[in-house]
Amino acid sequence: MSKKTVLTGITTTGTPHIGNYLGAIKPAIEASENPAFNSYFFLADFHALIKCQEPERVARSTREIAATWLALGLDTDKATFYRQTDIPEITELTWILTCQTSKGLMNRAHAYKAAVDVNREAGKDDLDDGVTMGLFNYPILMAADILMFNADIIPVGKDQIQHIEMARDIAGRFNHNFESLFTLPEAQVDEETQLIPGLDGRKMSKSYNNTIPLFSSTDELRKLINQIVTDTRAPGEPKDPDNTLMHLYRCFASEAESNAMRQRFIEGIGWGDAKKELFEYIDAQLSTPRARYNELMNDLGEVEAVLHKGAERAREYSAPFLDKVRHAVGIRSLTDTSTTQQKEVVKEKEKSAEEIARAEEGRRRAVLMQIRPLLEQVQQAEDKAAAAKTLVAEKTAEVEALKKKARQKAQNELDVLTEELAALL
Ligand code: TRP
Repeated sequence: MSKKTVLTGITTTGTPHIGNYLGAIKPAIEASENPAFNSYFFLADFHALIKCQEPERVARSTREIAATWLALGLDTDKATFYRQTDIPEITELTWILTCQTSKGLMNRAHAYKAAVDVNREAGKDDLDDGVTMGLFNYPILMAADILMFNADIIPVGKDQIQHIEMARDIAGRFNHNFESLFTLPEAQVDEETQLIPGLDGRKMSKSYNNTIPLFSSTDELRKLINQIVTDTRAPGEPKDPDNTLMHLYRCFASEAESNAMRQRFIEGIGWGDAKKELFEYIDAQLSTPRARYNELMNDLGEVEAVLHKGAERAREYSAPFLDKVRHAVGIRSLTDTSTTQQKEVVKEKEKSAEEIARAEEGRRRAVLMQIRPLLEQVQQAEDKAAAAKTLVAEKTAEVEALKKKARQKAQNELDVLTEELAALL
């Protein structure tokens, strides 16, 4: 079986913290060591412009995140590691995909809806106040990141699942309308690492201001760990081992060490002593990568060179692939008179059963997107069964009246409609 492609990016707006490390970078580096996968990891610097209008901060964060991946031991011979903006094909693909994305799909994006909700609650007349087209189109840029490399698996946080679903919808629509070029990606969410607690016990996140920067100095790290919120139980009193200190400890330590620590909480280790142990443990684990990080931050030319090499490698894939995409939509040299139709016939033959099933699912999704309003009408009707029957009868009549090509399209719609409404018919 061919290798699966794993792809993930980090938006360059902040300083990497322990939550980013445990939740995203560490598992990604581990996956890249596995020869069963092709890995693509990148700095999502065009995404940064959506959220942040401070150029110095974007530039600093890009340096920090790049150095962090390398300091943590990413082997850039195994993984393709690049900066999004070094791949011009991604931006081109974004436009092509923009033309395949219905505005209604973007209206449903969580980030956009959240901005609208804030305006509504503030009583603003203009619900789109402060919303840029960048924010609105964010999921399309992200779809381009993913589809550009035909990635199969996208490790992300829960808040990003919807974006992967949208990338699937967009890919399905393209495959349906033109040529089956895009793989439908899947989100991979690791429940365990979703819950890394910050200083106040809530999920560690930039937006809660409760993070522990990954490469804080030893003194800062000690200070921050001392700030972790605990209860007022005195040393000697038994403590609930389900606490923030224990949780962080477990993220770094082995199972046996974690069990021993758990026992010590039950036996009443003082909070101060537990913080000291946690600090020493994390500090020891991070000291080598921290030193490497500091070296790299003083030798950014080296980091830049690594990124250039990564971009070159990424473009070995993206440039010829984008040519195919351009050809499929009709952007061609004037002398190129080959049609996509002929190509497709050859392609179908080369495909495995799994690929065909995937393409099929993509087609189905694309159709679903178009008939969603019809399905909603049925769901809202008083007599659902009657509405379903009428709808299918009308669609059947419509299909029969059509000419060959249009007929196939309508027939596809009818098939999916009938399937969706099967229970009511
Ligand atoms: N939007 C993602 C985030 O904020 C970052 C990102 C951009 C990404 N493009 C991506 C993640 C493609 C996975 C795949 O976390």
